[in-house]
Amino acid sequence: MKNALILSIDQGTTSTRAIAFEVSDKGVFSVLAVSQIELAQHFPHSGWVEHDAAEIWRAVLQTCREVVTKAGGIERFAAIGITNQRETSVIWDVQTGEPLHRAIVWQDRRTAPEMDALKAAGHEEAVRAQTGLILDPYFSASKYAWLLDRVENGRERAKAGEIKLGTIDSWLMWKLTGGQSHVTDVTNAARTNLMALQTLNWSPSLCELFGVPLAALPEIRPSDARFGDCEPSLLGKAVPIHGVAGDQQSALVGHGALEAGEAKITYGTGAFLVANTGEKIVKSKARLLATMGWAADGKVRYALEGSIFSAGSAVQWLRDGLKALSDSRQSEAIAQTLPDNGGVYLVPGFTGLGAPWWEPDARGTVIGLTRDSGPAHLVRAALESLAYQTFDLLEALEKDGAPKLKRLRVDGGVTANAFVMQFIADVCAIEVERPAFQEMTALGAARLAAFGAGVTDTVWSPPQTAPAVWKPRMGEDERTMLLKGWRRAVKAAIVAAQ
Ligand code: G3P
Repeated sequence: MKNALILSIDQGTTSTRAIAFEVSDKGVFSVLAVSQIELAQHFPHSGWVEHDAAEIWRAVLQTCREVVTKAGGIERFAAIGITNQRETSVIWDVQTGEPLHRAIVWQDRRTAPEMDALKAAGHEEAVRAQTGLILDPYFSASKYAWLLDRVENGRERAKAGEIKLGTIDSWLMWKLTGGQSHVTDVTNAARTNLMALQTLNWSPSLCELFGVPLAALPEIRPSDARFGDCEPSLLGKAVPIHGVAGDQQSALVGHGALEAGEAKITYGTGAFLVANTGEKIVKSKARLLATMGWAADGKVRYALEGSIFSAGSAVQWLRDGLKALSDSRQSEAIAQTLPDNGGVYLVPGFTGLGAPWWEPDARGTVIGLTRDSGPAHLVRAALESLAYQTFDLLEALEKDGAPKLKRLRVDGGVTANAFVMQFIADVCAIEVERPAFQEMTALGAARLAAFGAGVTDTVWSPPQTAPAVWKPRMGEDERTMLLKGWRRAVKAAIVAAQ
């Protein structure tokens, strides 16, 4: 009998991908086919970022169909897994199945004033106690409220079941099941500011606080649940959707960092450190987020997360905004034309600063320019900023009592840049390990789906080839000096925001 296939959908901030994984009888996953489509970004005002949810759905359908064709047809597909950019919020009409507004992307800062008002009214501790999150426009709750305010009789219609809200996973499952399932998984629900981490249910008091009717929210299920079956006419067969997780949590599963003390960081548009804390919800004192690690096989694992808003997007800015590069891959060689950063630091606060600073009004800041500074300095400063931001997260993790990590598992586009990898190892004084197989995010959802559908008997499967490793080699004095410069730069970015 031929091996089963899993269709893994990875709907990210800048692109949509579908990957067909073949699962061997030993539980080894290998890629059979891939399809990818870039996603248009809309910036209607300063600090606003939107996506067209209808375009996202079309891209998902197209990439899935391409992959199914490349893999030789739908017959062997046993399950669909979905992983997605988290927090991005969609509102749609039940009758038409069409979005009622562009989706508000996780990076969008438009609801910062509402969050400030809630903070000033003293609500942050209560929100934190229930959700593990802080009051920040990053999370979905205030985006949902903003969207409901823009639709005529939005709240009444939501209460009457005429309007649905959801993160990208919910939207896609609504479309894939032909409007049969309005569902989400715990890892996505945990990013809304509306789910209580203890109970894994929507919190009525938080729904009240944010003005989001419960009736408009999807049902929450574990990540390996059966979420519904794909409408047969879409791909040619009613394949069950059996694995769903937000992209950062999915990557944690992909890395096999399933138990307490293991961590990974994914460098995509942003960069997200997720450190597994086991069955314990750790209340962060260092402004990290308490959140889900994974929930499957009847188990629940929590995590501490550090979210950096601009990582790969800083390199994109060098290419598209500054026009210092024609291709992102040039950044590595350009940075290495300089012996050092020449005292130039760039804080990539293009959409505010995330953990541990949480300054939504911060913007990109450069310090240390002299008459000798040129484009190469900005390129180098942008690349170096990934390492400094990683250092801030690891330092916060230690402050929260986590044991020092033995190694940092990394994945994502930027990890192809060897200069950045070595600089992270140096600045963070930690061994950096990049798996040979890079699709950790899509792999996590595929593993969850295969496990949920009974194709495999464990969520874990061993790495297939030896990872690439970067060891720290920078002297302590240089490291201290660089970090001092970075702190000055962050301070400047925060002062400028106030
Ligand atoms: O929290 C946002 C995150 O899930 C987005 O990830 O990979 O699309 O940048 P990515």
